[in-house]
Amino acid sequence: MTAESPTPPIALCRLDDLGDPGSKGFLFQGRSLFAIRQGQQIFVYENRCPHRGIPLEWTPDSFLDNSGRLIQCATHGALFLPDSGECVSGPCSGEYLQQVACNIRDGQVWLD
Ligand code: FES
Repeated sequence: MTAESPTPPIALCRLDDLGDPGSKGFLFQGRSLFAIRQGQQIFVYENRCPHRGIPLEWTPDSFLDNSGRLIQCATHGALFLPDSGECVSGPCSGEYLQQVACNIRDGQVWLD
């Protein structure tokens, strides 16, 4: 029996694929994810609102409110902090989006 080697990190996208501030959705290895960019910071989440368990966006790649500072669910308007995924307004206040660990290296966004 051979030991399984650890799964290598995988690039999600190039940093330049995201506006600043910006957001983009991905279907990645069977998972629905989205990434938020604010300056040189990137946050990646599962695309599932904790209120009803459905995708957040109404139109493709639209995950931010009009200010570009908060993540917004299009269905009932819940607002989430980009860095923690905490809902700070709306029907699921106090609940969290599921964050996916990532890092930026060589101009690309990598999932850990
Ligand atoms: S489904 Fe997201 S706020 Fe209701």
